[in-house]
Amino acid sequence: MDTSLRYRRFAEVEAKGNSATYEQWCTAIADDPDVLALIERLPEPRRQPNLVLGASRHLGAPAGTYASFREWQLHHWRGVEELARARTTQTNKAGRTAVLLPILGLLPGPLSLIEVGASAGLCLYPDHCRYLYDGHRPVHPTGGPSPVLLHCTTTGEPPIPDGVPTVAYRAGIDLNPLDVTDPADMRWLDSLVWPEQDQRRQRLLAAAEIARTDPPHLIGDLNSAIADLVRQVPPQTTVVVFHSAVLNYLSPEARASFVATVQSLPCRWIANEGVGVLPDITAKLTRTPEQLRGKFVVSLDGEPGRWPAAMGNPSTG
Ligand SMILES: C[S@@+](CC[C@H](N)C(=O)[O-])C[C@H]1O[C@@H](n2cnc3c(N)ncnc32)[C@H](O)[C@@H]1O
Repeated sequence: MDTSLRYRRFAEVEAKGNSATYEQWCTAIADDPDVLALIERLPEPRRQPNLVLGASRHLGAPAGTYASFREWQLHHWRGVEELARARTTQTNKAGRTAVLLPILGLLPGPLSLIEVGASAGLCLYPDHCRYLYDGHRPVHPTGGPSPVLLHCTTTGEPPIPDGVPTVAYRAGIDLNPLDVTDPADMRWLDSLVWPEQDQRRQRLLAAAEIARTDPPHLIGDLNSAIADLVRQVPPQTTVVVFHSAVLNYLSPEARASFVATVQSLPCRWIANEGVGVLPDITAKLTRTPEQLRGKFVVSLDGEPGRWPAAMGNPSTG
């Protein structure tokens, strides 16, 4: 995609309403040939606003006006480029667990959770979070108070459970797993949180604190690792393979191959992906992709269903 258009779209669709700083920077970058020329030194997949801006902030770009960011960027581009070539966008949003919980609550426990594209694995602890769904009683973890409180607005009538599921086993798959016990990895995750999103930053730190008490087992590439992992879980558990904001990183062929594999395995499958990422699921929606632009669609075993499918969560949520 044209880089200018990519930054303009990011400003309008993703940053707007979520980060005034990123909205302002990306709108200005879209019209700034000098900065665009620097970004275009990167291979096309690495020109993502999230990656370039995350790398810049990691190295100290001031979260202020575009003029000060621009000046910083022009002087520090070499370091930004090096970091953007070495790292990937692996934003790990524990908040996505709030969208998964209602579906997990429909499944018979105990559960064996396998998250595909887990990043640092922060969404693998649904049983350790507290949840506040609007208009519903709070859902508390069984093991005592949690530092992770997830607020979630809802539409329709999602099946909010009374309690958290029992989790017998958790593991994840990631091409480049991040280690919750490694300060450098955690600092990178922190740099991927957008400037104004202090609540998300606090949630990230709190979720990492939980994960550090029992770090998840994280391995490999999703298409080569998933079948073996599903077969290794403890018996007498419901195996749940889930993923959020991952399949858009794959080619259409690799996506289709993953879907065919996961549907052939003895597991339940929860997909939480941007609208349009899984064409068969998109085709089952009652609203058009255009009406759902910028939303995610959550599905169970390939069915968006009436219930949590209505809980389209913003990709930045
Ligand atoms: C945007 S992050 C989302 C992380 C997490 N699912 C969440 O919602 O917070 C996407 C993750 O998918 C991983 N990923 C991309 N392609 C992959 C593949 N082929 N196999 C395994 N992981 C992959 C990336 O390394 C990255 O950590």
